[in-house]
Amino acid sequence: MAADLNWGILGTGGIAKAFARGVAESTTGRLVAVGSRSQKSAEEFAAQFNVPHRHGSYEALLADPQVHAVYISTPHPCHKEWAIKSAEAGKHILCEKPIGVNAAEASAMIDAARRHDVFLMEAFMYRCHPQTHRLVELLRQKVIGDVRAIQATFSFAVPFDASSRLLSNDLAGGGILDVGCYPVSMARLVAGVANGRNFAEPIELQAVGHLGTTGVDEYTAAVLKFPGDIIAQLSAGVQVEQENAVRIYGTKGHIHLPTPWAPARNGGMSKFFVHHAGEEHPQEIVTGPTPFLYSIEAGLVAESIPRRQAAPPAMSWDDTLGNMRTLDQWRKAIGLRYRFEV
Ligand SMILES: NC(=O)c1ccc[n+]([C@@H]2O[C@H](COP(=O)([O-])OP(=O)(O)OC[C@H]3O[C@@H](n4cnc5c(N)ncnc54)[C@H](OP(=O)(O)O)[C@@H]3O)[C@@H](O)[C@H]2O)c1
Repeated sequence: MAADLNWGILGTGGIAKAFARGVAESTTGRLVAVGSRSQKSAEEFAAQFNVPHRHGSYEALLADPQVHAVYISTPHPCHKEWAIKSAEAGKHILCEKPIGVNAAEASAMIDAARRHDVFLMEAFMYRCHPQTHRLVELLRQKVIGDVRAIQATFSFAVPFDASSRLLSNDLAGGGILDVGCYPVSMARLVAGVANGRNFAEPIELQAVGHLGTTGVDEYTAAVLKFPGDIIAQLSAGVQVEQENAVRIYGTKGHIHLPTPWAPARNGGMSKFFVHHAGEEHPQEIVTGPTPFLYSIEAGLVAESIPRRQAAPPAMSWDDTLGNMRTLDQWRKAIGLRYRFEV
């Protein structure tokens, strides 16, 4: 029985607040500490979420003996440093996606987790949700026959601000790393399951994209080929609204997921559709009611800690490494290199 995992949150931004609510609503853990670069932010966050320990530095959070697991919610280029320091401090780690800026960083983080014998998972919350489990189950049952093609998009438009996390070159902005990591992870999951595995790696990737004035990808699309001749069309962006859906086409029908990335985010029911070839109406696949999305994720971490990695379809270390390698390839294909990488 997983219970009583003491969480510390590192960073006090947007997603940290969602995760704080996730822990508060979970039955498996409690939020004991928060660490921020400033004491003031730590105090404000702690007051909002009723957190007893407030630390004005990330170092102080990691030195807090009450903290068993750390949730890293800083911008992507800060993940590696704090994940490795968390491992060195003997803390279990849930690290926001993408786990790092590239596969080399991911590899160093996984090595640190292995060396210090701590749990580590990349926080793809949709991989923890029962809707994704259901999708995997149906694909294994070949409900749409043999999978041939996948379409997956995660893209939105933010007001342009060159210094914002989503557009800044120094903070590794752009669509591929912020949201392209989701379609890549979904295509690798679906192609893997179609090949009788937990995930698959692409054997070919081509892409085009638009780099904006800050040099990051404002929007981009990639085509991939997987073993079994499965093809995927993926798109991502931070400067264009698109339909954030997944469609999977097989020899006997197709599946449409209208909310693939944050199913029933606030808790409740979620739905996707199986269109059987030759049938007029799709079959509705309903999941739920489920708890708040980030509570499910916090609970999965708590129960998976003894094994140090989460079970599929949540992200294992090899899955994360394959995902980061694919993101590296996508970035290379459109000529995206951050200034700090040169
Ligand atoms: N899974 C999801 O649903 C989801 C959703 C959104 C974002 N994310 C991921 O979570 C991470 C954070 O995203 P966010 O939207 O929460 O970002 P955000 O609102 O900008 O917050 C990031 C926080 O990181 C800390 N930080 C440390 N170094 C920083 C720096 N150089 N510049 C700015 N902030 C810095 C700050 O906290 P302090 O000032 O307290 O130190 C800041 O509040 C990203 O990797 C993103 O991909 C995941």
